[in-house]
Amino acid sequence: KTDNLLAILRAQPVVPVLIVDDAKSAVLLARALVAGGLTAIEITMRTPAALDAVKAVAAEVEGANVGAGTILNARDFDAAVKAGSTFIVSPGATRGILDAAKGSDVPLLPGAATASEVMALREEGLEILKFFPAEQAGGAAYLKSVSSPLAGTLFCPTGGISLKNARDYLSLPNVVCVGGSWVAPKDLVAAGDWAGITTLAREAAALRG
Ligand code: 3PG
Repeated sequence: KTDNLLAILRAQPVVPVLIVDDAKSAVLLARALVAGGLTAIEITMRTPAALDAVKAVAAEVEGANVGAGTILNARDFDAAVKAGSTFIVSPGATRGILDAAKGSDVPLLPGAATASEVMALREEGLEILKFFPAEQAGGAAYLKSVSSPLAGTLFCPTGGISLKNARDYLSLPNVVCVGGSWVAPKDLVAAGDWAGITTLAREAAALRG
């Protein structure tokens, strides 16, 4: 499962974090992102359409690895897996989510922001973690500081990251990719400017090129 998650996350430097209002535009948005080279896409469970969007993207967007984000409990976890998520993202971790993940083939990317949280998740056998909220919790300097004492843990920092500061994270040895919503800005999505989104995705995909 760890290898599977690593392969999904390694495929691009930036995982788009999406808040979607309907499944149809989620499919078009996901296609635009994949066309720009971003194949792993996180759809957050923050809107009524989110689960249907995961289903639709999983079924209709070739080349996409659709994950579900903002998973807050075991019930959400199971529903997201049923909908076709290939990975599950949580801002933190609870006993319920960890147990659901143990019983599933679908890998979990749980959130951690302190050394103790990282250590607790390592004890659960999890080696790839979301550092959240990245900028607010100490940013790239924080991750650099923990790279030696918490060696062997890989992070996908998310929260407050953009084209401006993404490289600060991506240059660290303990960062596998970053997450961010900047590749799918609300105004471009509302306007259906899929070509504009593909351009942003291309820029993001080239961050480590
Ligand atoms: C979120 O909380 O929506 C995600 O972590 C993305 O954060 P961002 O909008 O700062 O990229």
